[in-house]
Amino acid sequence: MGQSIWNSMEQKGYSRRDFLTFCAAAATAAGFGQSGVAEVVSAFEKKEKPAVIWMHFQECTCCSESFIRASHPIVLDVLLNILDLNYSETLMAASGFQAEKSLNDTIKNNKGKYIVLIEGAVPTGDDGVYCMIGGKTAESILQTVAKDAAAVVAWGSCASNGCVQAAKPNPTGATPIHKLIDKPVINVPGCPPIADVMMGVVSHLLVLGSTPELDSQGRPKEFYGRRVHDTCYRRPNYDAGLFVESFDDENARKGYCLYKMGCRGPVTYNACSVIKWNEGTSYPIQSGHGCIGCSEEGFWDNGPFYQHLASFPGSALRAQRTQWAWLWARPRWSAWEPMPLSPTSANVPSLQKCMKTIRRSFEGL
Ligand code: SF4
Ligand code: SF4
Ligand code: F3S
Repeated sequence: MGQSIWNSMEQKGYSRRDFLTFCAAAATAAGFGQSGVAEVVSAFEKKEKPAVIWMHFQECTCCSESFIRASHPIVLDVLLNILDLNYSETLMAASGFQAEKSLNDTIKNNKGKYIVLIEGAVPTGDDGVYCMIGGKTAESILQTVAKDAAAVVAWGSCASNGCVQAAKPNPTGATPIHKLIDKPVINVPGCPPIADVMMGVVSHLLVLGSTPELDSQGRPKEFYGRRVHDTCYRRPNYDAGLFVESFDDENARKGYCLYKMGCRGPVTYNACSVIKWNEGTSYPIQSGHGCIGCSEEGFWDNGPFYQHLASFPGSALRAQRTQWAWLWARPRWSAWEPMPLSPTSANVPSLQKCMKTIRRSFEGL
């Protein structure tokens, strides 16, 4: 039997305190919270650490870049140094035949127990010539590594749904992993995915040794269960009809909603507005740009990035409410507008402000 994660850490000079810190961080990343720490400690004390293979196919390596910027340094350290990350073209020192041997040995010696993490789509056009490693096509390598894996994770939108590699006209026949293999795939989309989400998925696999609950697109519900729009800090502006009209206008400076600038937060499922990026510093919308829907299927072909969505689930109800409100307000508004305002009325400034807000709300819808 192989070493447990705790044995491994101990051997590498980590203290018991480091181990418990790691367990607490892993429990949080996997969504177990403080109540799950004991379970994590017990799992990491006993469970054999799994071998991991990280493949790179048609991609830009930014998913790896994202992963190494996770906000729990000790978790990252443990995952990179303590796990048997036996094959990763970006992170391993070995190359050539030595690297090939490591890959083959891992598959042979860990049948049914190793985890495969895949970054990138697989080109299937022209017999797969557009991505070959060591003289083999990406597709044949995928079939070999996936066959005896305990779990297969598709990192990022390239591996999960093709992303830019599969954008029309998709000359290389780029295909997502789940369409090519005959076993369940955990899709972790995003271009790139959030580092802490990647960490959470790995932690879940390590602790429970099972697949997290997935949505209809194969994404862990825990991280992809809500729309960016649902927890966006600009949402009150959306609800009040306060919108940015151009990227350099006064409304942009005030941080109004980016819906009219093409924001796809209302149709994009991801944890950006909750977990954020770079240790919770920011996310695209907080930086002033709308969400471009990078974690949704076919996002490069889902329409222009700067054209606002004509509608989205739930918007019809809102539009209906607005229509009723408009029917009620229009005669009153028309009656009010030409009405001369008494300069002596104390209520005039607040009334004007109120009407301006109402007008903006209607204009924005
Ligand atoms: Fe790069 Fe995006 Fe593909 Fe990740 S999903 S490899 S960040 S293009
Ligand atoms: Fe946030 Fe975009 Fe929704 Fe506006 S439309 S509230 S910017 S997610
Ligand atoms: Fe992607 Fe939108 Fe988040 S573009 S990074 S899902 S805010």
